[in-house]
Amino acid sequence: MSELKENKRTGFSSKFGVIAAAAGSAVGLGNIWKFPYITGQYGGAAFLFVYLAFILAIGLPVMMSEFVIGRKAKRNAFGAFRKLAPKSVWFVTGFLGVGAAYLILSFYGVVAGWAMDYVAESVKGTFVGKTPQEISAYFNHFSSQSLNPVLWQLAFMVLTAVIVLMGIQKGIERYSKVLMPLLVVLLVILVFRSVTLPGAMKGIEFFLNPDFSKLTWDGVLNALGHAFFSLSLGMGTLITYGSYIDKKNNLGKTALQVTIADTVIAILAGLVILPAVFAFDLKPGAGAGLVFKTLPNVFMQMPGGSIFSVMFFILLTIAALTSSISILEVVVAFLSEELKISRRVSVVLAAVSISFVGIFCSLSLGDMDGEVFLGMNFFDTLDFFAANIFLPFGGALISLFIGWKYGYKKAKAELSNHGKINLWYFDAIYFSLKYIAPIAIMIVSVYGIYEQVQKYLTTLG
Ligand code: PFF
Repeated sequence: MSELKENKRTGFSSKFGVIAAAAGSAVGLGNIWKFPYITGQYGGAAFLFVYLAFILAIGLPVMMSEFVIGRKAKRNAFGAFRKLAPKSVWFVTGFLGVGAAYLILSFYGVVAGWAMDYVAESVKGTFVGKTPQEISAYFNHFSSQSLNPVLWQLAFMVLTAVIVLMGIQKGIERYSKVLMPLLVVLLVILVFRSVTLPGAMKGIEFFLNPDFSKLTWDGVLNALGHAFFSLSLGMGTLITYGSYIDKKNNLGKTALQVTIADTVIAILAGLVILPAVFAFDLKPGAGAGLVFKTLPNVFMQMPGGSIFSVMFFILLTIAALTSSISILEVVVAFLSEELKISRRVSVVLAAVSISFVGIFCSLSLGDMDGEVFLGMNFFDTLDFFAANIFLPFGGALISLFIGWKYGYKKAKAELSNHGKINLWYFDAIYFSLKYIAPIAIMIVSVYGIYEQVQKYLTTLG
């Protein structure tokens, strides 16, 4: 890319825009759909405590690294490594990231499509007067159909593509700036509704009382994996967004703000879901079905429930949308900068090919159910590869890159805006990147793979 073109590369136009976009990426289905049920499953506050420790010790340093790499190189996730470490194989890190973006967005779009269907069903009143069994049956039937979930998934992918097509400032930044505050408003209303229900206290206790007996080794590992997924780390999303951040931005502070926003929103989502579930004597152990099977019951039993149901599923769709645009942008920036394809064609190519894979993800929950890998269907296989292999492995490579290749001096120079910002914390961050993060991450992925193989072998008998 010529100097001239590089100078013309558009970026985010304001500090708030940067935070809205990056927090928009971080806050997603991971926070609202997944965090509440895994927290419940692994001992409430006990899990939260470990999760927070990982976020601080590993998540934050890796996020700062991604911002540093992106802003310094002003390139997509793949090109950034080629530019900062020419004639080396570090570009593999970016390549893995683009691959992970593909995998994640294909199944992410499916779940986001469900959220959109639930907005429509809540408006139509489909869940009114239904028993818990009927609502559960609705979800099982809907998600295993061939046509409807695919149409919703495609609708969601079109929304994602349209925003990315409008560009960094006029698309991603502008929509994040509107959607993120809206998300916070909806969330706060729902928290109030939920914690003021009679009997809500039981849920708050369940969520925030530490039960260390439930915090298994498996839970600790889940906490780290989820920290990566939730903060959008390990696949170059924040390298790509970092490349649109201007020279004056305090990257360390931005990373801290994004991390706090992501964590607070996850906790608030827990405070919407768990108190409501307990108030109506339902079980939080519904796992991944908590949001799609249990929650509609809760709404149907509370006064004004249909309105809250519509609000909740709009919230879920918005959260998914500001994340999916960041994932699509990873692929689009790669295609347009590396293969010199126009941005418009890149968006279409990326969105169409990812949707295509996504269709098989959706079908694998119904007609095309079948084992693909270690006993998992296609949907779970993509999820497994993305969460247990690509993201942690990418995160470890990013830490190692800063810790051992790019080095202390250059990283500190970029993060401190060449000495303009006092980085009293830098040594701690650097130590984590060099040793703690890569080692901890490696343990997680090896364990994740080991456990999966183990589970598979026991099913084989
Ligand atoms: N952070 C998003 C969530 O919590 O739902 C998911 C995600 C977005 C993961 C972007 C990875 C990524 F690069």
